[in-house]
Amino acid sequence: MEDEVLELNDNAFKATAMPKPDIHSLVNSYLIQKGLPQDIAVTFDDVTILDFKSDIPSRSSIIDTRSHLARDIFLSTPLVSANMDTITESRMAIALARLGGLGFIHQFLPIEKRVEEVKKVKRADSGIIENPLNINPEATLREAKEIMDSMQVSGLLVIDPSSEKLIGIITSRDIRFESLLEKRVAEVMTHAPLITAPRGTTLEQARLILKKNKIEKLPLVDENARVAGLIAAKDLLKIEQFPQASRDAKGHLMVGATVGIGKSFSKEAEELVRAGADVILIDTARGFSTRLEDAIKNLRATLGDIPIVAGNIDTPEGALMLIESGADGIKVGIGPGAVCKTREGPGVGTPQITAVAECVAVAQKYGIPVIADGGIRGGAHFCKALAAGASSVMIGWMLAGTDETPGQPFYEDGEKWKIYRGSASLEFQLSRLDREESERIRASEGVPSRVRYKGEVSAVVHELMSYLRSSMSYVGAWTLEEYRQKAKFRRQTTSGYEEGKPYG
Ligand code: XMP
Repeated sequence: MEDEVLELNDNAFKATAMPKPDIHSLVNSYLIQKGLPQDIAVTFDDVTILDFKSDIPSRSSIIDTRSHLARDIFLSTPLVSANMDTITESRMAIALARLGGLGFIHQFLPIEKRVEEVKKVKRADSGIIENPLNINPEATLREAKEIMDSMQVSGLLVIDPSSEKLIGIITSRDIRFESLLEKRVAEVMTHAPLITAPRGTTLEQARLILKKNKIEKLPLVDENARVAGLIAAKDLLKIEQFPQASRDAKGHLMVGATVGIGKSFSKEAEELVRAGADVILIDTARGFSTRLEDAIKNLRATLGDIPIVAGNIDTPEGALMLIESGADGIKVGIGPGAVCKTREGPGVGTPQITAVAECVAVAQKYGIPVIADGGIRGGAHFCKALAAGASSVMIGWMLAGTDETPGQPFYEDGEKWKIYRGSASLEFQLSRLDREESERIRASEGVPSRVRYKGEVSAVVHELMSYLRSSMSYVGAWTLEEYRQKAKFRRQTTSGYEEGKPYG
């Protein structure tokens, strides 16, 4: 079977050329291999992972949790954040990319704002910032402050508009105690000559210059004193602090951006890619549709080699349709999520372990990775989604309430909370920033909720990853790839599940 798996990267073109697979037998043999039932659909708590004889001395010996997201994108942490308005904007995407995962900026912001969010991620921990933000010396401190605040940067290069030469630098420290924000930048900035380095300076050389001169920012200039880049001490420290970070070929943090299937999705996707998005997610609640099929084909044609993830579906037939249309990664999950009502409202959706396993059965034939989306309530669910064959897991609820999610925490009933709400909830539909007046309100398929404030997202990710390493050691898998192949389930009764809960 192995040699029939297609080479990565060529899937979109070859998938259509391949004869239709026998979905039924692919699915059945995979379910048998995984120890999953063929007649009934099961979810996380219906099954338990079997342990095998293992030569792994301890969970800390496991270092390889590399997983495939789409095309040439691999993550050292198989976790991506949900493209929801209360979960992923730039702060979450930056935090997750630093931890080796990836964030998908949600699609409910107007396109200009989405583009800005993508740019913020690409600007963070950059190593070399190619187009550093700059300002005119005649601008006011107020304008400088506005740019720094909105772009979340601590300094701006000051460039003379006529000669285009670097003539100074202004940082948030220069402005911090200034009460007269109408002053001109030129009055307050540090004037040239500044300590600079030539274009082509390496990060290691920059580190020595920053250290020797005890400065925070090192502009790179060309032979005409024009700005050719910027290296910031903060970024160099972040690069060392997060060796596992998801970075693109230039060393920038990776980020995903989402489009829907509305009328301007294709133009939006192009703009997001131009802003630096590494992967485009095309997302719709009802993904097994000709609309999504056409939209993927359209994006495939316009975006060239840019990886495309598409969803959501929950059947092997749906998976095949997305792959044949040209998707490089597929997102699986209809209704398992914490704020979902699709199972309760329209009554649709396959329990998640079966949905993931059946889609993997088809997708792996084409070398296409599956993202298991929704329903993760703790370590066991995270591990089981991967054990069922998913290459990564999309999470909303477990990340909700962390500092990095959009929105402010609030106090109620004596506790600190943040809002988490379904993208199809009534409340969200009414408050959508990109909503057009004429848009009709649909019966809700999601709910709003409050979740306890949790502090930094890194704590959540570390806990999940620690459980994953432990689970891998029980299964005897040194790598995540091995775990996905080797892990097997056994069905359990409700009392078997209850037995597993601490009761002492
Ligand atoms: P968790 O369980 O991690 O799930 O919070 C996140 C996923 O839930 C999906 N989602 C929805 N599904 N109605 C739904 O049926 C909704 O309003 C809704 N909002 C989000 C989505 O797939 C997300 O990644």
